[in-house]
Amino acid sequence: MLYAVQTRTTRRERLCSALRQAISEGSLPAESRLPSSRLLAAELTLSRVTVEAAYGQLESEGYLRRTTGQGTFVAIRMRPPAADKETAALPFTPSTRAAAVVTSGGCQDPPFPYAFAAGSPELRAFPHEQWRRIAARQQKLHGNALMRYGDPQGWLPLRQALSTYLGQARGVRCKPEQLIVLTSSQQALQMLALLLLDSGEEVWMENPGYPGARHAFQSAGARVTGVAVDAQGALPGDGAPRLIYLTPSHQYPLGSALSLERRLAWLALAEKRQSWIIEDDYDSEFWYDAQPMPAMQGLAPQRTIYLGTFSKSLFPSLRLAWMVVPEPLVTPLIRLRSVMDGHSAQLPQAVTAAFIEQGHYAAHLRLMRQLYHSRRDLLQERLSALLPDQLELLPCRGGLQMTVLLHEGDEADLTARAAAQQLLLPRLASCWFNQPPQQQGWLLGFSALERAEIISGVNRLATLF
Ligand SMILES: Cc1ncc(COP(=O)(O)O)c(C=O)c1O
Repeated sequence: MLYAVQTRTTRRERLCSALRQAISEGSLPAESRLPSSRLLAAELTLSRVTVEAAYGQLESEGYLRRTTGQGTFVAIRMRPPAADKETAALPFTPSTRAAAVVTSGGCQDPPFPYAFAAGSPELRAFPHEQWRRIAARQQKLHGNALMRYGDPQGWLPLRQALSTYLGQARGVRCKPEQLIVLTSSQQALQMLALLLLDSGEEVWMENPGYPGARHAFQSAGARVTGVAVDAQGALPGDGAPRLIYLTPSHQYPLGSALSLERRLAWLALAEKRQSWIIEDDYDSEFWYDAQPMPAMQGLAPQRTIYLGTFSKSLFPSLRLAWMVVPEPLVTPLIRLRSVMDGHSAQLPQAVTAAFIEQGHYAAHLRLMRQLYHSRRDLLQERLSALLPDQLELLPCRGGLQMTVLLHEGDEADLTARAAAQQLLLPRLASCWFNQPPQQQGWLLGFSALERAEIISGVNRLATLF
């Protein structure tokens, strides 16, 4: 029975589409008379009921007019599209706000960690079995609750687990009520830009700096001003920015840590000018020589918005990140989130919460820290041995990639030639506001590469010079 209904519906729909098309193309002009349903049914070997239903449907849509005793007529006149216009793309100009992002190509995250794609965790060492077990248990425990609409602020047990972890590991001062779970740090930046920046307002960020942040601010129509960076991190200037974006524990991309003196200077400026500071703590879980300084947020929780992500510490497609915000921003941000994508997926949040609570997160980080440490050492050693004059290695105390400055050759040309050798070299140029950039070089990812992959990658890189 169901099959019969489905078949009839399909035939009726097919007849409707054919008639709509004939009317739109003009092969059935306005006021032309259609055959009676009995005649058409016989002609097309359809049942009369199907033809009646199709005529009725098109009458309700306004394509046909049916008059008792007279017949069925085409009720509208449609201008047929010119043949070439039908397929030609319509001219399109992006909005002024979106233009900078659209023309720059946006963010390009590597889908596969070829040598030396940056920012990719080692997934071959991920505790898949443990993750699967926890997922099954969480699904059993919470059942349909995980399948309903969720809290735009995030799954409460995850916020609780994160606030404890961040307090202990990073000195972040927060209650679960100040924490918002998001799909990415990028989403946090986009939301903050929307909430805090009016078109034309000034935002300061490090130059060179994280392109994702620049794109988010530009797409809000803000004026983005670059701040110089040296071995002590970003240099505080004089002015009145509405918003300041910093990567204090590991400057992106040059790798320096913001000194305590500079942190205090930035906070004093923010206090004086009533600015907000965004602290992007994107990869502070991975440190090799010494533990990074606690988060800047701990010094001024009322001025600082703290961002973190699981993209590096667990896996990027998890699409979970967080922000810790001063109390007055909580409700406005939750409301904004509710009109963007509602909330993050519930099951991954529940699994992540249990993974942290049961101590697996801390254990996983310990293991990855050791693994990445040995990979950083190997990359450093191979580059120094093979390319001592061509590359300058910047200090790499932590993170998933090493920044190298180019002393010989051209960044764009070498990057293009490297691609022919299946080498992906993330360019420093994308981090500079001003072109040509002040320094040339690359951010060489090492975390997702096994020993042999690092050795072979550096060997291939050396053949380019
Ligand atoms: C400075 C910085 N912030 C944030 C992120 C990305 O985080 P997410 O994947 O959560 O947007 C990255 C990724 O490379 C980054 O380098």
